[in-house]
Amino acid sequence: MTDPSPDTPAVETTGLHKIYPGVDGPPKEALKSVDLSVRPGSVFGLLGPNGAGKSTLINILAGLVVKTSGSARILGWDIEQDMRQARTSIGIVPQELNLDAFFSPREVMELQAGFYGVPKRERRTMEILTALGLDDKADVYARSLSGGMRRRLLVAKALVHAPPVVILDEPTAGVDVELRQSLWDYMKELNDAGTTILLTTHYLEEAEAMCDEIAIINHGEVIAQDTTPALLARLDRKEAHITVDRDIDTLPGGLSGPGVDAEIKSPRELLIRFPPSQVHMGTLLDAVKKAGLEIADLSTRDTDLEEIFVALTSSSGDGLPPRRDGDRQAGSIEKSRSGPTP
Ligand SMILES: Nc1ncnc2c1ncn2[C@@H]1O[C@H](COP(=O)(O)OP(=O)(O)OP(=O)(O)O)[C@@H](O)[C@H]1O
Ligand SMILES: [Mg+2]
Repeated sequence: MTDPSPDTPAVETTGLHKIYPGVDGPPKEALKSVDLSVRPGSVFGLLGPNGAGKSTLINILAGLVVKTSGSARILGWDIEQDMRQARTSIGIVPQELNLDAFFSPREVMELQAGFYGVPKRERRTMEILTALGLDDKADVYARSLSGGMRRRLLVAKALVHAPPVVILDEPTAGVDVELRQSLWDYMKELNDAGTTILLTTHYLEEAEAMCDEIAIINHGEVIAQDTTPALLARLDRKEAHITVDRDIDTLPGGLSGPGVDAEIKSPRELLIRFPPSQVHMGTLLDAVKKAGLEIADLSTRDTDLEEIFVALTSSSGDGLPPRRDGDRQAGSIEKSRSGPTP
């Protein structure tokens, strides 16, 4: 094919299917007919739990894993038929910290540049290392770098040939808050300069903070794909448990509103499910106090991603539960707070 048009998806997979042959056990179907389309210039998040198939998908794009069937294109270049163009169009940051312990960051960068045939005068080794805060480590052995530094070096290495598409597999796994923030900032800078970013993560927060669009993958299947605001709006549920100072048999008035669902769980305990984007916790607490009740205890329940997946996979249609006021199942869905906290 000729050079891609501006509308060509940065990454596109059609019916991508992968079965790993079983070594000790039965074969493993890691991807089941995955269709994805990543808009050029976007930051796209592939979100899913352990074993969902994220790395398998990334590694197929990178040419590290051979697909069983289906097809994949990078900026229109087929990963098999146009392998050379496809490979030079992407920079991959792998999940595993696979660095040679006896090379320095500068050497790692130069070797990679050589591998991609980047002419010496066009190499930006120190510029990239500096951008990632590794300039003062340029000449030490990689084995003396910390985990976070190694992760940054992998990012630097993926950028040597200035690829238009950068794919990061769990870029913030095991990195501290500060580094995570600086990596996000750097990804945003790259994106502002026109680079398409595809990242995988376990964390809804990370996807929320970084991504324009999110696909959720579970057991090798994409179960939802939407713009971040649209997806989050549909996962907009929170649960509050309020213990009051005396027994009640009727619900306090005022515990209503769009999407609010309240019930008496035990004589002194109220369970309220609500959409936090529309109803503030304070409003609910005020309603309880207005009924003449003192609040003895309060907790909010943090639903983890696993429960969101259960809700997504157990409903019909596009896999997402519809927003219905008082919907019990959707009531437990909210953003995971199990994210990359320190
Ligand atoms: N080389 C392999 N041989 C056999 N099975 C594999 C191989 N690599 C991955 N799998 C299996 O394929 C499935 C998907 O794995 P994959 O690494 O793609 O998941 P993931 O979403 O990246 O998970 P994680 O979040 O833990 O990184 C898992 O069940 C895994 O055990
Ligand atoms: Mg993985």
